Amino acid sequence: MDLDHIKTTMPGSGLPGGLLWIERKAEALPQQMAGMTVLDIGAYNGYYSLICASRGAKVLSLDVVNEWRNLELYNEFKDEHQLDCEHKELDVYDLDQLDEVFDLVIFYDVFYHLESPMDALRKIIPKVRRALLLSTYIIDSRFADVDQTQPLMYFFEPRELRKIDPTNIWGPTTACVEKMLKVAGFQAVKMLSYIEDRAIFRATKSTLSGLPLWPMT
Ligand SMILES: C[S@@+](CC[C@H](N)C(=O)[O-])C[C@H]1O[C@@H](n2cnc3c(N)ncnc32)[C@H](O)[C@@H]1O
Repeated sequence: MDLDHIKTTMPGSGLPGGLLWIERKAEALPQQMAGMTVLDIGAYNGYYSLICASRGAKVLSLDVVNEWRNLELYNEFKDEHQLDCEHKELDVYDLDQLDEVFDLVIFYDVFYHLESPMDALRKIIPKVRRALLLSTYIIDSRFADVDQTQPLMYFFEPRELRKIDPTNIWGPTTACVEKMLKVAGFQAVKMLSYIEDRAIFRATKSTLSGLPLWPMT
């Protein structure tokens, strides 16, 4: 089995532009990960976790629910390639139950599903040693009459944004995500990439300064 097969079972892979977005999130991951520790929050079936583990990282993949994630694929790939990764059921709001701190925390496409995204960022920051990668839905191109350079967040009622998913509730501007990450305690925040209504941010702690972690600068 290869990672491309797992990619096609990730959320949104069947939607227009879905695979491109998944690839963008994969491209934002560091190339060299030997010796790194990674926490993947909202990992679903662990596609990004498995990429990191394949590059030499030790990975913990978390999701609030595990039973319908087809974790057989994750376990099969992990065993076949003898990877150092583990999938665990845990809510982002319960992160303080973990003792470890991780070099890299991945928080892809979970932010806008949460009722309290700021509370989640405050739970995440003590778990980050070097950097956080966060991707989210953004509203920068959605409303013509709103100043998108302002730190605004739009609240969608359940099923307003996506009929099939009642948990898509927040639509921040990029300025809003950047400001929330700074207020949560990150020193440097950079938008790495975006596609239409989605963006990927890298937030680093001051201890990172000068470390060549990423090819994308
Ligand atoms: C849109 S999927 C994104 C999956 C994957 N990270 C990706 O980028 O494709 C959102 C994931 O976040 C998980 N999730 C939602 N609320 C969560 C919470 N409170 N704590 C941890 N995971 C959560 C969902 O179960 C789901 O797997």
